[in-house]
Amino acid sequence: MGLTIVGCGYLGKALARQLQTRRPGLRLTLTTTRAERHGELADLADQLLLCDATDPSQLLKALRHNHTAVFCLAPGGDRQVNADGYRQTFVDSFRCLGSLLPGLPHLRQIIYTGSCSVYGDAEGDWVDESTAPAAGTGHGAVLLESERLLTAMGNSERRVCILRLAALHGPGRELDDRLKGLAGRDRTGDGRSFSNWVHVHDAAGALIAAMDGAWSGVVNVVNDEPIRMRDLVDRSLKRQLLDPVNWSGGPTLESGNGRRIRNDRLKALGYRLLHPMLDGQSGVLPVSQVP
Ligand SMILES: NC(=O)c1ccc[n+]([C@@H]2O[C@H](COP(=O)([O-])OP(=O)(O)OC[C@H]3O[C@@H](n4cnc5c(N)ncnc54)[C@H](OP(=O)(O)O)[C@@H]3O)[C@@H](O)[C@H]2O)c1
Repeated sequence: MGLTIVGCGYLGKALARQLQTRRPGLRLTLTTTRAERHGELADLADQLLLCDATDPSQLLKALRHNHTAVFCLAPGGDRQVNADGYRQTFVDSFRCLGSLLPGLPHLRQIIYTGSCSVYGDAEGDWVDESTAPAAGTGHGAVLLESERLLTAMGNSERRVCILRLAALHGPGRELDDRLKGLAGRDRTGDGRSFSNWVHVHDAAGALIAAMDGAWSGVVNVVNDEPIRMRDLVDRSLKRQLLDPVNWSGGPTLESGNGRRIRNDRLKALGYRLLHPMLDGQSGVLPVSQVP
């Protein structure tokens, strides 16, 4: 009996690495849809399988002997996909999972890394897990439908936990690298919309805590610092000694003020953030949480 990570991209790999260190005895199955990733992933896994989660026979093989499934999948690569692409990845995979459940009696725990985008725009207000989602249409609606499909799979024998993640940052996805191209540029709007972030080590750490603690239901996984886009960008450019952005006002594509996401439930469940703030001030690392 072990754990399967379906979708080993940025977060799935970070989780696999933490598990190798923190749970060396756990039998780990990883999946990829691309044979060429074999070399990159093989050392992290006891078993590495080619698996498109929309393919019933491949998904059944990936989950058959394990008690826990973590779904970290997302439309791959840098390509921007429309809502239909999201639907193919998430909804079709979870429909496939639902159809297989009668043949997966050992599967006791399903954990999915969803997104805080299901909250939609809250005019800058705070939201928590009790706030009604306002996903609208498009990508957010697909993610909400995905959550609902999964939630319906929970019962007394099988826990379902949905971690709603903020935007990920961390090694390989450093904010300074992502923002430096804005130096000296004009941006429409005033940048006042809130963004929410979580370090990839905390996202992976929360996944392990969810596993260990048998969490169920929805848990926001965000750091302590919702931040307005202009503060995020200005701070990063200043730190890099680069020219500031000129916020030129006027309407932007991202209307609204965003939302600030609470992480009280995450903390009440006992998780201590390794990176509560964006600027690298780490919390004290309990030995059990060292990535
Ligand atoms: N990145 C963020 O800022 C962010 C924010 C909020 C929530 N999340 C959630 O966090 C999770 C992980 O994000 P990430 O940034 O690690 O994504 P990622 O780097 O894009 O990795 C996702 C992986 O999913 C695999 N995949 C795609 N389609 C699949 C399918 N049909 N069946 C099985 N596997 C499939 C791909 O792996 P192969 O190419 O090897 O097949 C891909 O590398 C996602 O569920 C995402 O919704 C991410």
